[in-house]
Amino acid sequence: MLKSSFCGAIAVLMALAGAARAQDPAEMVKKGAQAYRICAACHSLQPGVHLSGPSLADLWGKKAATIGDYGRYTEALKKADIVWDEDTLNAWLANPQAMVPGTTMVFRGVEDDQTRVNLIAFLRQALAPGGTAKVVKDGLIPERMAEGPSPQDLSSLGANQRIKKIRHCGDAYHVTTADGAEFPFWETNVRIKTDTSARGPQKGEPVLLRAGMAGDRVFIVFSSLAEIGSLVAEKC
Ligand code: HEC
Repeated sequence: MLKSSFCGAIAVLMALAGAARAQDPAEMVKKGAQAYRICAACHSLQPGVHLSGPSLADLWGKKAATIGDYGRYTEALKKADIVWDEDTLNAWLANPQAMVPGTTMVFRGVEDDQTRVNLIAFLRQALAPGGTAKVVKDGLIPERMAEGPSPQDLSSLGANQRIKKIRHCGDAYHVTTADGAEFPFWETNVRIKTDTSARGPQKGEPVLLRAGMAGDRVFIVFSSLAEIGSLVAEKC
C-alpha cells in the first residue's frame, strides 16, 4: 500500500515536471516555429506581402479579413464576426472549415492541442513589434520562411528566357527569345500566366519558364493581361 502510494506520488511529480517542461515559454516558441513551417507555404510574416494567403503581420486584435490590401478574402471570412486572439486562433487552426464554412484556407487543421498552443506562442512572438526580425535572428525560422514563398523574380532574366516574339499557328505557339532562338510548343503544353507585381517581367517582354524536366511544358508569363492580346499574333 505504502509502496504503491509512493509510486503514485512519483508518477504525479513526473507528470508535473513534464507539464512544466511543456510550458517553458522558450521551448514552446521553438516548437511553434517548427509547426509554423506548414503555414509558410501560403503566408508571409512580413507586412504587405500577400501570397496565396494574406500576410499575417498585424494579425493580433484585428477583425478577420481586414488585413491591409489582400484582395482575395472569401465572403465567408468577411462575414464571420471574428477578432483574432488566442482563443479564436486556436479554434481556426484546429479546423478552419468548421469555424468558417466556405473559407479558401485549404488546410485541414492542426489536430494536436499542444502543437496549436506552441504555434500561437510563436505567432505572439513573431508578430510583436520587431518580432519577425528577432525570430529570424534567434535562428527559430530562416529568413526565407518569414518572407514566405514569393514567386521567382522575373524582372531580370537572361536573353534565353526573355521573349521577343510569339505567334500562334495551328496547334502551336512559336516563341522567339531575345537571343534569337525560336521554339515551337504544342499549345496544350503552354500555360499562360500574368505576374503584375514589381517582380514580374518587364513591360513588353514576357518570359519563358520551363515547367518540367523534359522541357516540352512551359509557362509564358506576361506583365499584364493586355499584353496577352497585343503581343501574341495569329500568324503562320
Ligand atoms: C494552402 C494555403 C494555406 C495554408 C497552408 C495556411 N493558410 Fe492561412 N489562409 C490561407 C488563405 C487563402 C486565407 C484566406 C481565407 C479566406 O479568405 O477565406 C487564409 C487566412 C488565414 C488567417 C486569417 C487572416 C485574416 O486576415 O483574417 C489566418 C490567421 C491564417 N490564415 C493563419 C494560418 C496559419 C497560422 C497557418 C498554419 C497553421 C495557415 N494559415 C496555413 C491560406 C493558407
